[in-house]
Amino acid sequence: MTEGGRPIAVLHGPNLNMLGRRSSEHYGTLTLAELEEQVRRWAAERGMLASCFQTNHEGEFLEHVHGIAGSVDGAVVNPGAWTHYQWSIRDALELLEAPFVEVHLSDIEAREPHRRASVIRDVAAGAVWGKGPEGYRDALDLLAEVIGP
Ligand code: DQA
Repeated sequence: MTEGGRPIAVLHGPNLNMLGRRSSEHYGTLTLAELEEQVRRWAAERGMLASCFQTNHEGEFLEHVHGIAGSVDGAVVNPGAWTHYQWSIRDALELLEAPFVEVHLSDIEAREPHRRASVIRDVAAGAVWGKGPEGYRDALDLLAEVIGP
């Protein structure tokens, strides 16, 4: 194992920096910083070292993924609204050279119809939604199963 754990990325897309101010009904009350802190702890408990990144800019997201490709063992990704239509995000994630799990705080199946579509689902190793922050723990468990010890 790499010192500090196996390197993984935790990637967030647009508007997720506004957690804590977005609808608590869908997204809960944690801020992104609090969520990331929790995710880093859960990752560490599973022998993983999580590096967190969020951006509201598509190009920045793509370039970040290009930059980490080949140097992480896996990723947990919440692309926000890009999930539903942004094919360039899918293409970039395919370049990651590592499995990733899609995660959403809210129950995207029970909301507006456009949120049911995911352009990354079939290239993801798994997907978790509707479980709030705990869904990230489930996503890490799925990722751990896929990448092994
Ligand atoms: C989200 C769901 C998306 O539909 C939405 O656009 C988001 C957050 C979630 O975590 O529930 O920004 O990905």
